[in-house]
Amino acid sequence: MAGPMGGGPRRGPRGPVQKPKNAKGTIIRLFRYILKHKGLFIGMLVFAAISSLATVSGSLFIKPIVDDYLTPMVGQEFTKELVAPLIRIMILMGSIFLCGALASFGQSKCSVWLTQRTLNTLRKDLFDALSDLPISFFDSRPNGEIMSRFTNDVETLRMFISQGLTQFISSGIMIVGSFFIMLFLSWQMTLIVIAMVIVMVFITRTLGKKSAFFFKKQQEQLGSVNGYIEEIIEGQKVVKVFNHEGEVVSHFGDINENLRKAATSANTFASMLGPIMNNLAHITYALTAAVGGLLAIKKAMTAGDIVAFLQYIRSFTQPISNITQQFNNALMALAGAERIFDIIDQKPEIDEGYVVLVNAKLNDKGEIEETEKHTGIWAWKHTHGDGTVTYTRLAGDIVFEDVTFGYTDEKTVLHDVSLYAKPGQKIAFVGSTGAGKTTITNLINRFYEIQEGKIRYDGINIQKIKKDDLRRSLGIVLQDTHLFTGTIEDNIRYGNLEATHEDIVRAAKTANAHSFIENLPDGYNTMLTGDGANLSQGQRQLLSIARAAVADPPVLILDEATSSIDTRTEKQIEKGMDALMEGRTVFVIAHRLSTVRNANAIMVLENGRIIERGDHDDLIEQKGKYYQLYTGSFEEN
Ligand SMILES: Nc1ncnc2c1ncn2[C@@H]1O[C@H](COP(=O)(O)OP(=O)(O)OP(=O)(O)O)[C@@H](O)[C@H]1O
Ligand SMILES: [Mg+2]
Repeated sequence: MAGPMGGGPRRGPRGPVQKPKNAKGTIIRLFRYILKHKGLFIGMLVFAAISSLATVSGSLFIKPIVDDYLTPMVGQEFTKELVAPLIRIMILMGSIFLCGALASFGQSKCSVWLTQRTLNTLRKDLFDALSDLPISFFDSRPNGEIMSRFTNDVETLRMFISQGLTQFISSGIMIVGSFFIMLFLSWQMTLIVIAMVIVMVFITRTLGKKSAFFFKKQQEQLGSVNGYIEEIIEGQKVVKVFNHEGEVVSHFGDINENLRKAATSANTFASMLGPIMNNLAHITYALTAAVGGLLAIKKAMTAGDIVAFLQYIRSFTQPISNITQQFNNALMALAGAERIFDIIDQKPEIDEGYVVLVNAKLNDKGEIEETEKHTGIWAWKHTHGDGTVTYTRLAGDIVFEDVTFGYTDEKTVLHDVSLYAKPGQKIAFVGSTGAGKTTITNLINRFYEIQEGKIRYDGINIQKIKKDDLRRSLGIVLQDTHLFTGTIEDNIRYGNLEATHEDIVRAAKTANAHSFIENLPDGYNTMLTGDGANLSQGQRQLLSIARAAVADPPVLILDEATSSIDTRTEKQIEKGMDALMEGRTVFVIAHRLSTVRNANAIMVLENGRIIERGDHDDLIEQKGKYYQLYTGSFEEN
């Protein structure tokens, strides 16, 4: 099956031909997926072979029926002896066609199963790859564009695997089979057919080159249309607030128009192909019929030969025109497969960490021992090169040593940041917007890799810690809360999947979310949809605090978690938060002084540098930036 496909899409030496970048590699990879279901694939092949062989060989009866049965009957009376053999041979022919029909039923079953299973695996691998990608990947492209790989590109593959693949296989068999039989019937007439086929292939290649470029463009445009739709749905409110409906509609009109143009160009060439091929097939038919007539007059051929030959022209040219039409589907599918593999091949988040987090207990001598049970004591299990294992108790000691970082190579966001947080300390970051506060917390949980310096967690370089375990030890309330579709209880449980209902209520009470949840008609079973759109901003934040609380982590990172909460609620939360922060290392980023004031150390950030550090009283005394912030923007609190 690689034959007809591999033979066709050869690169033209010049011109705007944009084939899949690495067609051969993509085909091989795609087949590796398809061959994961060898049984179905072979079944499909075998059934396709049987069905096309039946078609080809069924027609073999035409010649003897005409020459040996019908011709002698001309002018004769119908007698039982004369008709019985004809009926017998007709029944034989009928049974062969019936076998073919059954096989083609089997083939379509196999093909459906094969297609759906292959796509299922492909989607799974794509999603797995997506989950392993670093945050920076998502920073750099619109969601809808990624979504379109799951929808459009997978759909083009579905068409190709379910229809194209079997077409290539059965057409191949029909072409080869018919060719030899035609050759056997009349080489002269076969020559005419071959000449016409060369013309057909030439036209296909010329048109195919043109349309391949536009098919690729069509997929890309479809991606950007989807991306835009998704973005506008998410940003509905902003669109309405600024009365941008008009612009949005007109921009959509533009990109929709681009899609139309690309799709029209792609399909114009593709749809020209069918009629051209059909007409050529008719011409071939007429030409060979004429030549056949001449040959018959010269007695070089029998009537049966001609009827059979004409039948074989159909089963020879029909599959050729099928293949040429499938050709564009194949190109489109390859372009889609390439876009899918492109994501699967993206470099996943680096995780060469080997230090893991384990449950621990203290033995009689006060040493740390690993245990299966949940003890509330955790230890870092460090397996060294020589096979020895050491344990370090998880305490929540975090040190930054001259950390320099930028999201992109062009712009450094943090410069030589050094800081330390002792277990149980509360460290606050303040500073103007864009100073780099969120960035620091993004580095502790290793959303991004630092360019220079070191971050140590309980004395261990965090690059040595397995990412899952690192993040499991951190409770994080992100600046932008995100809630999933599900009940409130499910959303809180996201912090710790083993939490019981009681744990969840306790966490909600700590976060001061309990009372508002109780007041909802369905309480903890209230369904949240669309990122918690049915809750207020403050309520969403309370839920995300509860989510961190239920995880019960030794280190907490709170990014402006209280910024959307009114002053009275804030006071209540503060009490809960103090309880939550008790005995933990806490990094807190807050724009409100009340949250910052009782921190053990306050870091004032400006343009990615720590410019002041100390506790509240020290910093006020210094009369620097913090003093300004405190007497300025913090005044209203
Ligand atoms: N994903 C990103 N990709 C590229 N640059 C980023 C990214 N996120 C933040 N930055 C840049 O890094 C700098 C620091 O951003 P950061 O989010 O750490 O600020 P912040 O101190 O948390 O501000 P705020 O108080 O507004 O939350 C900014 O200049 C911002 O433009
Ligand atoms: Mg921030």
